[in-house]
Amino acid sequence: MCGIIGIVGKKSVQDRLIESLKRLEYRGYDSAGIAGFTDRGVERRRAAGKIRALEEVLAAEPLNATVGIGHTRWATHGGPSTRNAHPHTSGRVTLVHNGIIENFAELREGLKTKGYSFESETDTEVIAALLNAELDKGKAPTDALKATLDQLAGAYAIGVLIAGEENLILGARRGSPLVVGYGEGEMFLGSDALAVGPFTNRVAYLEEGDFVAIDHTSARIFDAEGRPAERAVRTVAASAALVEKGNYRHFMEKEIHDQPEGCQHTISGYVDALSDRTRIPGEVDFAGLERIQIVACGTSFIAGMVGKYLIETLADLPVDVEIASEFRYRQPSLRAGALVIAMSQSGETADTLAALRYCQAKGMKSAAIVNAQESTMAREVDVVWPIHCGPEIGVASTKAFTAQVSVLIALSVAAARARGRIDEAEEQRLVRVLLEAPRLIAESIQLEDAVRGIAVEVAKARDVLYLGRGPMYPLALEGALKLKEISYIHAEGYAAGELKHGPIALVDEQTPIVILAPFDSYFEKSASNMSEVMARGGQVIFITDPDGERHAPAGAKVVVTAPRCDPLVAPLVMSAPIQLLAYHVAVQKGADVDQPRNLAKSVTVE
Ligand code: G6P
Repeated sequence: MCGIIGIVGKKSVQDRLIESLKRLEYRGYDSAGIAGFTDRGVERRRAAGKIRALEEVLAAEPLNATVGIGHTRWATHGGPSTRNAHPHTSGRVTLVHNGIIENFAELREGLKTKGYSFESETDTEVIAALLNAELDKGKAPTDALKATLDQLAGAYAIGVLIAGEENLILGARRGSPLVVGYGEGEMFLGSDALAVGPFTNRVAYLEEGDFVAIDHTSARIFDAEGRPAERAVRTVAASAALVEKGNYRHFMEKEIHDQPEGCQHTISGYVDALSDRTRIPGEVDFAGLERIQIVACGTSFIAGMVGKYLIETLADLPVDVEIASEFRYRQPSLRAGALVIAMSQSGETADTLAALRYCQAKGMKSAAIVNAQESTMAREVDVVWPIHCGPEIGVASTKAFTAQVSVLIALSVAAARARGRIDEAEEQRLVRVLLEAPRLIAESIQLEDAVRGIAVEVAKARDVLYLGRGPMYPLALEGALKLKEISYIHAEGYAAGELKHGPIALVDEQTPIVILAPFDSYFEKSASNMSEVMARGGQVIFITDPDGERHAPAGAKVVVTAPRCDPLVAPLVMSAPIQLLAYHVAVQKGADVDQPRNLAKSVTVE
């Protein structure tokens, strides 16, 4: 996750870009840079390290510009050096970028054959070169930008200067946020409302796939197809921008939509995108480990269950997952050769903390997968595995769940490699699969309109069943938990194979049954379970992928088709539809989505 700012100003922008970058430092501070139009053309100033280092560069060599862009970097492709610092320049184009371009290696090779050379190791420079090549064809800036964006795979937000277009900044977003700020004779572009907060509180949030051209007085916004688009301008409290709902009605909805970027940030902390290898923080000897004990509550517990499926299958490393409140009182049998992992968004949940301390007292090495890095759990463990997804405000956890699962996927690949279960080539393949997950999550979120329609019916139900096999079983539990938490409809998640041992008795024409079944090795069995419930009048909502849609038995009430993906990341890609379903059912029922009755975000009592 990096931070972006752009200003088409009337007065000097240098200090204002810096002020904004300081507000964006929470998104990363490996390097920083700014660029602007001076009387010598487009000039850049860049420095490795925090913004303070850039200020020293500027003290020695100020940037005298009224139109400029800035960036604070959290390194993914290429180390945190000045050479890799943004903005990057190719020909007439200078730009800043937040995100990952998945196909940058092949694009770079193609550009090299056209005579382009690259000075950095970043994926960003490729965007600059592509855009420059499109401009060289004589296209207008927005047409050239559209042609460039059409070639990119991945999730990104960008801000662009073009030499010779002194009153223009271009921007685009897909998977990563970008806002347009409206000032008095000045216009702004920023990663969030906080970035433009010192200059204006009137912002428009760009939507998925949008691109924009701003000048001193206006923003021309286009949708993903290049059609002119209107985006509402709203007044925000800039001080609260970090926890600002943006275009969304509720934090939960925003946090569902935050997931592509949240997961991208998470994943960047656990893989090296240049070598396609895992890079797990801390000293954990996965090869020598006897078992893993995961302790957690609520949604974090369910993420732990997904982890058990992944780690045992891929790394042949035994994993126990237990609800912390049970674990702490039953005197479990433990071995010092095991690693305890406390999973917790808050890092403060009392039962999880007690279970963690219990294991530590038995001599076990400890780790915590947490969002809050200053939390008690983070302070008390040997190894902290942060999920880096930003503050989660909605009481029902969404983006923390997918971020936790992202960490567990990376751990499973690293453990498999360390234990000799996969070779380097397979590790690289799996890392590439993981790096593609943010884009696939973004595609999965695009199912929102379809899911909203289903929610109208589900909102009338008294009970809802969720079924899944393999890693889709914990996801069924999570789907049911989300629905219960925020819509107050009774819901149960079951392993689909267990259906015939009891829950099938609940099936009647009034019971929606959500079946999660991507086209994986469990698919045939899940399809049989689907037939069983349909034979008893059950109303099936079948959540699958394109191959699953083709092979599914006829008769489902609705089929929701998520994007095709490798089974490794299916728990990430399939999360959005169940989260969105719970969300829209709750909205339909008029429930208090962000603060459901009787619940709390962080439970620090037993
Ligand atoms: C509460 C929240 C849940 C959360 C659980 C565990 O019950 O409402 O959303 O999953 O606590 O919280 P933790 O911070 O430990 O992940």
